[in-house]
Amino acid sequence: MTQYSRVSGSVGLITLKNPPVNQLSAVVRHGIVDTVQKALSDPKVKSVVICGQNGMFCGGADIKEFQTLANMRGPPLIPMIHSIEAADKPVVAAIEGGAFGGGLELALGCHYRIAHSKAKVGLPEVTLGLLPAAGGSQRLPRLIGVPAALSLITTGRHITAAEALQLGLVDQVADHNTVDAAVKFALSVAGQSLDARRISNFQCPPVPNMDALFEDVMQKVRTTARGAIAPIACVQAVRAAATLPYTQGMQREKELMATLFTSGQARALQYCFFAQRVVGRWSMPSGARWDTSKGRPIHKAAVIGLGTMGRGITVALAQTGLSVVAVETQEKQFMEAKKAVSNMLERGAKRSGKPLAHGKITYSQSLQAVADVDLVIEAVFEDMGLKKKVFQQLSAVCKPGTFLCTNTSTLDVDELASQTHQPELVVGMHFFAPAHIMKLLEVVYGPRSSPELVAVVMELGKKMGKVSVAVGNCRGFVGNRMLKPYRDQAYFLLEEGATPQLIDQALEEFGFAMGAFKVSDLSGLDVGWKVRKEEGLVQPGGGSGKSARIRNGVRYSPLGDLMCEQGRFGQKTGRGWYQYDKPGSRDARPDPWMHSFLEEYRARHGLVARRISNQEVLERCLYAMINEGFRVLEDGIAAGPEDIDIIYVFGYGWPRHRGGPMFYANMVGLEIVLERLEHYAQANPDMPTLQPCSLLRKLVASGSPPVNKWKEVIKNVRSQL
Ligand code: NAI
Repeated sequence: MTQYSRVSGSVGLITLKNPPVNQLSAVVRHGIVDTVQKALSDPKVKSVVICGQNGMFCGGADIKEFQTLANMRGPPLIPMIHSIEAADKPVVAAIEGGAFGGGLELALGCHYRIAHSKAKVGLPEVTLGLLPAAGGSQRLPRLIGVPAALSLITTGRHITAAEALQLGLVDQVADHNTVDAAVKFALSVAGQSLDARRISNFQCPPVPNMDALFEDVMQKVRTTARGAIAPIACVQAVRAAATLPYTQGMQREKELMATLFTSGQARALQYCFFAQRVVGRWSMPSGARWDTSKGRPIHKAAVIGLGTMGRGITVALAQTGLSVVAVETQEKQFMEAKKAVSNMLERGAKRSGKPLAHGKITYSQSLQAVADVDLVIEAVFEDMGLKKKVFQQLSAVCKPGTFLCTNTSTLDVDELASQTHQPELVVGMHFFAPAHIMKLLEVVYGPRSSPELVAVVMELGKKMGKVSVAVGNCRGFVGNRMLKPYRDQAYFLLEEGATPQLIDQALEEFGFAMGAFKVSDLSGLDVGWKVRKEEGLVQPGGGSGKSARIRNGVRYSPLGDLMCEQGRFGQKTGRGWYQYDKPGSRDARPDPWMHSFLEEYRARHGLVARRISNQEVLERCLYAMINEGFRVLEDGIAAGPEDIDIIYVFGYGWPRHRGGPMFYANMVGLEIVLERLEHYAQANPDMPTLQPCSLLRKLVASGSPPVNKWKEVIKNVRSQL
């Protein structure tokens, strides 16, 4: 796991060998301690170079060890790094690929750092709910100053070798063989005094108005952290570096880390890290899997319908280097879309520093233009009749074997597939707005979809930088299906006495990016209204009394319909659940009109307002959503809880530090979720979504196993169906 050799006569070369990223697992730490000892005690060795095999310095701690006590077995990282720093021979870190987390902390313990020009460095611990606790929070500010260290440690962002050089984080950047450059460098500094090279001896560079700086940063971090505690602990640790001697700072780092380590947030964030990998290993109920299904290359794709979604999808495809045919039938939309796509591409190129992808796109107003493409993504209006027609046309126009995908957010993918000659070549590709930015892609397969197509689309998602999750076909798929009971509860709570602000505040304090009503104003109340009208659910004027709030025996809130009747569509009309300065403005302000509207509504429906607590908001909205999540699992629509959680974290603003709805249910305790659902279901017999799902009951009866063991219970439940 660690190789040692003497090179160029007097340089001890230590190579970390632990694929894939040379993580600092217990054996590697053992190896480092032993080989450093060897190098320091060998009189022929005058200096030391530490590098990693396969072009990667070190990806940091082995996260798997966090979950076990294994990391207690090997030598601890802090004394290991201290002994390197205290060495009387110069130690040079040769950073190829990357030095992240513990890997960068190891490099900071070395006396010199040489990085390859393509290497990146960073301290991403905060993204796992932790802080750089092997001296990183104490050494980095001493080396590069407090503001730069705060920026790196509180965000976990990775920086390029060029930026690292500018900040003084590395001493030299090499364009070619970094290890050779480091060995040469090590030879040149052999025998030199190391007093000025031990970072722990440095004073933090002074900062004017330090208190004000920390106050300002803390305020910003609190706002963006949305309840996550690690970024706050990171600021506190850097403050310790700036104000305390090194040993006391290290003590503070240790205390803060202990708090974070035992917090549920670190567990949730680490769960997300692994869950993201789990969803990449997709499977279908037919038994088809990621490792046995092979896709085929896509060279040319098409997008049909250049509205909000089609424009973003065109950009996302073009940015992967694919040729894209973009089709829009309405003249006005066609002209606007061309301009909008071009602007989006330019902004994207500026952000990423990558070349513009304009030349990759051809525009057309005719569907005939897609005859020779390999894959089509349809993004026309959410109208089954229209989509069916488009799929019939595509099936006639496209060459045989063309993959046909729909971006529908709720409609039946199988019904669309049945309009084509090759229904096995049809899947849903459910993007989220804005499609070129949002990370999530729900890949919706039907019973006839070919595994080859799922493999193709999952791969294409990866190329577009998406987190793709393969799910089964049902109304709303996973994300929107679970969102419905959550939203319904928010409406019912309004009827019962809450206000949009009260509900949104409870949800935002929980950590959601936006509360349910702000989201509704953003996406437009008219979208759901149109669907409800088509389904025959809307009664003009909303009716009165209890019967007006029941549809098909189930509780229904006409509040959204009444808002739409008043022209309150949300941000786009400047009025919705909130008021806005002008149409299109985003700054939501409580609207006093809502108060009289709700009072009048309650009076008409014989409802008496009561005080609604934050706890009730969270329990009813979240547990209703979670309950639907259990149904999704029971129905086999999602392969496991990880799929649901990743969909919610990446597509629906669920706070990552709470791990996703299913992980959260497990953290709260499944028996508690069950008990609260039973309580609310009893009080509201007309809300079947609050009736606990049988899978939840089974899991509780099986002793509430941890999330990663649910699949076994699900398998048993499904085999009994
Ligand atoms: P949109 O109304 O902004 O755009 C639809 C576009 O399709 C319009 O430009 C229209 O002229 C064009 N179109 C209509 N018939 C056409 C045809 N036969 N050939 C070519 N173009 C045609 O709609 P939006 O919001 O982009 O939605 C499109 C699809 O994406 C819908 O199925 C929607 O449910 C889904 N979706 C929407 C999301 C959103 O946030 N807006 C999120 C995820 C999915």
